[in-house]
Amino acid sequence: MKKVSYYYDNHFKIGDVNENLYSSFIEHLGRAVYSGIYEPGHEKADEDGFRTDAMEVIKDLKLGLVRYPGGNFVSNYDWKDGIGPKENRPKRMEFAWSSVETNQFGIDDFCRWAKKAGIEPMIAVNLGTGSVKSAAELVEYCNHPGGTYWSDLRIKNGSKEPYNIKYWCLGNEMEGTWQAGHLSAEDYAKKACEAAKLMKWVDKDIKLVACGSSYEMLPTYMDWDRIVLKELYPYVDYISTHNYNMNTNQGTSNFLASYKQLDDHIKNTERVLDYVKAKNKEEKDIKICLDEWNVWNFQDIKLDSLDDLQGLTTFEVTSAEKWEEAPAILEEKYSLLDALTVGGLAITLINNADRVKIACLAQLINVIAPITTQRNGGVLKQSTYYPFSMVSNYGRGTVLKPSVNGASYKCDFGELPLVEAATVYDKESDEIRVFALNCNQDEDTELDLQFNGFGDRKISKQFVLSGDDLELRNTFESPDNVTVKEKDLSNCDGTKVVLPKLSWNVLIIK
Ligand code: AHR
Repeated sequence: MKKVSYYYDNHFKIGDVNENLYSSFIEHLGRAVYSGIYEPGHEKADEDGFRTDAMEVIKDLKLGLVRYPGGNFVSNYDWKDGIGPKENRPKRMEFAWSSVETNQFGIDDFCRWAKKAGIEPMIAVNLGTGSVKSAAELVEYCNHPGGTYWSDLRIKNGSKEPYNIKYWCLGNEMEGTWQAGHLSAEDYAKKACEAAKLMKWVDKDIKLVACGSSYEMLPTYMDWDRIVLKELYPYVDYISTHNYNMNTNQGTSNFLASYKQLDDHIKNTERVLDYVKAKNKEEKDIKICLDEWNVWNFQDIKLDSLDDLQGLTTFEVTSAEKWEEAPAILEEKYSLLDALTVGGLAITLINNADRVKIACLAQLINVIAPITTQRNGGVLKQSTYYPFSMVSNYGRGTVLKPSVNGASYKCDFGELPLVEAATVYDKESDEIRVFALNCNQDEDTELDLQFNGFGDRKISKQFVLSGDDLELRNTFESPDNVTVKEKDLSNCDGTKVVLPKLSWNVLIIK
């Protein structure tokens, strides 16, 4: 059996996991809002029309933030359409996904939903077709206590207390030609500076997220960040970036190794941040907000790969007809292999916890999501729900920095250890928790964990995600095809453990 050893010393730390590292995202897209979290008339809907069955499953994810309302959607969205009596709200053409937006759900509904779900909202403003004035008015509507036009309107609409929304995104993917109101880096920097200025005049305590670049195939990749940060550095607290991984024909090893691609992408963003910090002689550090990440296999996108995004000026690329209301689009069906890959990506997040302070799994429900609902029906946890739920529930604390030795494998991203792992120490429970992906496709691998300065340690639990059929998926008929299972560790009296071939594991060490 091949072996990999990870050695840890309690003096060598990467950083602390931020409570917002396990966050998610809900866009007005497909059935994320309508019949996802909101379905008046559903037998499990509460008095606000929120689906309590979906909310229970969401609550178990222990999310930090939920980003809303987009995504591409936000770049042509007028938040004022979604407030006030529902019968007066206009139906609008929605350009991002060629749908009709009924506006039956808006900012007040979202804040009410988030409060019930125990999640903090992170709101994106429209810096595509929207004005800087409208962005500042939204901050006023949400955060100002009262006595002004927009804050009094919020009170009139039922919320006496301000929402005090702390996190605000200055637009979405403004680098992309597919974005309504797409701008050059220079023009975006100028507009975002003005928006930041006005928004902070309304509420000086808000935290702002600038749009960074996300897509390596675009010629502006990273130049965008350099240009934008040159202007925006003093105004913002985070730079946003997105990363999707797709299973095309690259082979299992290369797809599974997506964790390394994500790591490279995060490191690229870090390098630009460091460059601008040095060049501008800045004092503060800007953190990374990876506000969209996931496996996205384009099952419902008529493009072959992310490369086709270059120059794209339409989003009529899904199975929907034009101008449908809440069409069932982008409803990815995730396999065991996808779940293993998501588990690997989560390991990368943890290992970059020193710089990545917010990360949103995109998305939360129905659209590219770990949770699926049926209209008038039930809720399903997809395979990817499990690794995400495990890291969110167990992956908090201080991330330890390892020294790694042993077997390796070759893939498109170079020669990598056969087991990719991330480890946190949780002071409160005095537990060390290891998340480990065994990339060995042929056989089990022995993982030898060594800890210095943590006293006597023993692996007390092993949770495993694995199986013979990598294509297996959860369905409403068979919802437990892919889940995490606890393995019997009665024979384990130390910190060596066998990881099944092609498996994602959580090890609890006491
Ligand atoms: O999450 C789906 C889409 O992916 C978002 O709307 C956009 O920001 C990204 O391109």
